[in-house]
Amino acid sequence: MNWDDERLQVARFPRDFLWGSATAAHQVEGSNVASDWWAREHRPDTDLEEPSGDAADSYHRWPDDVALVADAGLQVYRFSIEWARIQPEEGWTSKAQLQHYRRMIDGCLDRGITPMVTLHHATNPLWFSRRGGWADAGAPERFARYVETVRPILENDVEWVCTINEPNMVATHRDWEAAEMRMVARPDPDPKASELLVHAHHRAKEVLSGIPGLKVGWTIGTQDFEAVPGAEEVMRAYRYPREDFFTEAARGDDFVGVQNYSRNLIGTEGPMPLPDGTETNILGWEYYPQSLGRAVRHTWEVTGGTPVFVTEHGFATRDDRRRIDHTAAGLLGLRAAMDDGVDVRGYLYWSLLDNYEWGSFTPTFGLVDWNRTTFERRPKPSLAWFADVARTGTVAV
Ligand code: NOJ
Repeated sequence: MNWDDERLQVARFPRDFLWGSATAAHQVEGSNVASDWWAREHRPDTDLEEPSGDAADSYHRWPDDVALVADAGLQVYRFSIEWARIQPEEGWTSKAQLQHYRRMIDGCLDRGITPMVTLHHATNPLWFSRRGGWADAGAPERFARYVETVRPILENDVEWVCTINEPNMVATHRDWEAAEMRMVARPDPDPKASELLVHAHHRAKEVLSGIPGLKVGWTIGTQDFEAVPGAEEVMRAYRYPREDFFTEAARGDDFVGVQNYSRNLIGTEGPMPLPDGTETNILGWEYYPQSLGRAVRHTWEVTGGTPVFVTEHGFATRDDRRRIDHTAAGLLGLRAAMDDGVDVRGYLYWSLLDNYEWGSFTPTFGLVDWNRTTFERRPKPSLAWFADVARTGTVAV
């Protein structure tokens, strides 16, 4: 595809292609008090800009969120079950919280929405992290026991389950040995935690096996690493532990989730700073929508042809027009990858709502804004635009 071509470009998606949007519990629910992230937010010396507080109050307002998805004519709502609510203490499972999430699943089904349920999205119960988190050898069994408790609410009419969201980020971003949730970014993924995350994924698949019609996968934070000339070997060595190790583990799964936001240039010394004047989102990530098509192609190759679902893609901006441009251009690249044989089942925009971006509410990814006092939802023009894409299966740029 020639990106400098100024003619109108149109992409048509298959009729059964699934369109939707995603959120994650800690980022929208509010008051996730038994989680490790809440503990981190409330340390007197916290490194985070602001706490999550009530977030978007989706714990109570999820019917409004599901209604937004349904009214826009989208087919899929991806949300996560919060482990810290299901098992706020080790060895204790809350039936009431399980019922809460089953009500959400039913709320989607009643409105004709296909729920996609994530079992672990970034946060852990505090007790789990105090036991060493994902770097502790007991982690996969602890996770498997949690998945066993959740299994009954996934047994009827749920089609899509993501076990662990972005395990490659989980292994990279935290120092699980630090006491009392003083989590710091690690320069490299923890190799032991990486192995244990793969093991936990396999255990979760075993626990969920035999449920008719259920597809189980995990979602990779695909970073579209790109080598500058001469840095190809450096790039491969850099990428493997940060991404491909986890992507390889999705070989043979029912699907693999691809989550992509930009590309990352790698030089002979490693990651390179962006040249001055590069357009970025609020988080400083390059505006580079071509990365989505490249990420799905790469994931397809590394997994040896595991069906792909784009489980996240989006742009944090106050300029909603630019969000639309970014999404549209990303979708053209996605369609081109499909034309070349990549089996892509659907696309979920991140995120349905503006939300708590792991330390701050400032990076606004949402198709919908909300009033910070009343929590009233305020759809942005991009929601209507995306609804149109979903309805027609067509994107024009
Ligand atoms: C991926 C994560 O799954 C999600 O929680 C986060 O908000 C987005 N990336 C944007 O950073």
